Order: sequence, then structure tokens, then C-alpha cells
Amino acid sequence: MSDTAGVLKPASAAPPMAPRVAHVRRRRHDAPDAWTLELEMADGAPFNYAPGQFNMLTAFGVGEAAISVSGDPAKGPLIHTIRAVGPVSRALTKLAPGDPIGVRGPFGVGWPMAQAEGKDVLLVAGGLGLAPLRPALYRLLGERARYGKVTLLFGARRPDDIVFRREVESWRGRFDMEVEVTVDHAGPEWRGHVGVVTGLISRQAFDPSATIAMVCGPEVMMRFVAMSLVDRGLSEDFIYLSMERNMKCAIGHCGHCQLGPTFICRDGPVFTFTRLNPLLAVKEL
Ligand SMILES: Cc1cc2nc3c(=O)[nH]c(=O)nc-3n(C[C@H](O)[C@H](O)[C@H](O)COP(=O)(O)OP(=O)(O)OC[C@H]3O[C@@H](n4cnc5c(N)ncnc54)[C@H](O)[C@@H]3O)c2cc1C
Ligand code: FES
Repeated sequence: MSDTAGVLKPASAAPPMAPRVAHVRRRRHDAPDAWTLELEMADGAPFNYAPGQFNMLTAFGVGEAAISVSGDPAKGPLIHTIRAVGPVSRALTKLAPGDPIGVRGPFGVGWPMAQAEGKDVLLVAGGLGLAPLRPALYRLLGERARYGKVTLLFGARRPDDIVFRREVESWRGRFDMEVEVTVDHAGPEWRGHVGVVTGLISRQAFDPSATIAMVCGPEVMMRFVAMSLVDRGLSEDFIYLSMERNMKCAIGHCGHCQLGPTFICRDGPVFTFTRLNPLLAVKEL
């Protein structure tokens, strides 16, 4: 896998429509409706991918859904974090250790890790949007000297909705990155920020000419975050967002994920705000 030119190609030579079989190694409950699955490929081969890419996961007998990789691209196992919203995601989150699962991918253009080298990197996540950003964060921390200041701003609905909670706490304890967490609704035990994640942006000191932003979360949150960053002087060309649209083929054939002239599966899911801003008005296809 190479992302040096910002263009990512599947590392596997497997036919793109044929799922490879993997097995669930571990299953962890991460938030009230989200589970993290660790997978190992049945053939034992490593699964190479770049931060921000996604797989089509098959719950056999039910169907397929697009799910971002949420693990560390530098080492196994293959990890996905899934919110149970419909038939496929519900079936995937119920899989137990040892159960088979289909994996087709990796697909898409991921986060601009090469373009981020030498720059300060601002990651802004809303809810489960931290899952597709986590591989980028592992890469930033794993190759720390290549990047400037690293900041994670994370917003969740309630304290219980904070995914990867122990890891977020450990990132907060590091001296080589900054982490701010906010929740929309707090209980009496919460001592952190309360309010939407855009509120954290206004508190941040950053140099817009030296910063690249990677944003993932609900579409409305991403739009407000991007607009706040533009207000703070960041160029739309340096704000990257990861889009979700219903997918079928994931290889640019069926048109299911088409947004104007753009195929989210093939040309994205990560796009600059420059490219996405005119398309964001287009509702779910
Ligand atoms: C590139 C990409 C990456 C993705 N990464 C992840 C990921 O890492 N983890 C993950 O859990 N999901 C992820 N998704 C979303 C996932 O593919 C969808 O939620 C998928 O539709 C689930 O299929 P389903 O059959 O379970 O539900 P569906 O039958 O497709 O949907 C059931 C209901 O849930 C609603 N719904 C669908 N998606 C969402 C959503 N994201 N949030 C809230 N409501 C929704 C639908 O409108 C519908 O009403 C990603 C999608 C894309 C395109
Ligand atoms: S999912 Fe078929 S074209 Fe994108």
C-alpha cells in the first residue's frame, strides 16, 4: 500500500467483488450501540490499508455494509468499530469470537498523511467519527517526528458515548499531543467541557498557514466544523472531511454513492472542503 502521492490502491490482488473470509478474534462493547471487532484473515495473510480507507463487511446471510478500518495500519489485527443502526450492522455487531465475516477491500482514498508531513495536524471527531480517524492518529503518533503539533478535538453526545475511552484518556496523558473532549449532555460526574465540538475550535490557538485539518462525524457537524475553521483562516484546501453515503459495489460501478459527478467510494470517502462544499447540500441518495 502506498499513500505517498495521496492516491491509495488496494494492496490485495483479490477480485474486488469477492469477499475474503475472516474470523472474529475479539469483540468489545465500545459505546451503548457500538462494538469493536478484531478480525484475522482466514488465510493468515496480513491486511494492508491506509488510514481513512474502508472495507465492505459481510454478515453472511444478511448483507454487506461499508465500515471504516479503525485499527493501527502499522500492525494487525484488522479492526472495525460498528454502530448497530440497521440489519447488516446489527448482525455484524452480534458476531462472536470464532464467527466468520466477509471482508472486501480496502477501498477509497484515505486521509492525506503525505500532505500532512511537516504540518500541524488538527483532528476533529464527532461520536463514532473517531473510528475512521483513529488509524490516522496511530500513524501520526507512530511517525511522530514527521509531523508538527498534533491536536485531537472530540465531541460525544454523553460521557457514555465516548468510544475508545481508555485510549482517549491515555492520549490526553501524552506530552506530544493535545486532546480536548466535550459532551453535549453531561451528568454530575462529568468535569470536562460541555457543548458542541465547534466550541473547542474557538479555544484553540493554531497557525492556519501551517495546519491541516481532518474531520469526521455527522454531516452537519462536519459542515459547522469546516466553516469554523475557514472563519479561523484555514484554507478550504487544507480541510479534509470523510463522507458517508449508502454503498453497494464500492468500486465506482453501480452509481449508488454518486454525489453529482463524484463517486464517494472511488474518489473519497475523504475529500477537501473545497471539493465537498458545493456537494454537501445534496441529501442522502
Ligand atoms: C465510507 C463509509 C465508511 C463507514 N464507516 C462506518 C464505520 O466505521 N462504522 C459504522 O458503524 N458505520 C460506518 N458507515 C456507515 C454504514 O455503512 C451504514 O450505517 C450502513 O448503512 C449500515 O447498514 P445497515 O444495513 O445496518 O443499515 P441500513 O439498513 O443501511 O440503515 C438502517 C437505518 O439507519 C440509518 N442509518 C444508516 N447509516 C446511518 C448512520 N451512519 N448513522 C445513523 N443512522 C444511519 C438509515 O437511514 C436507516 O434508517 C460507513 C459508511 C461509509 C459510506
Ligand atoms: S458504491 Fe457503487 S459506485 Fe460507489
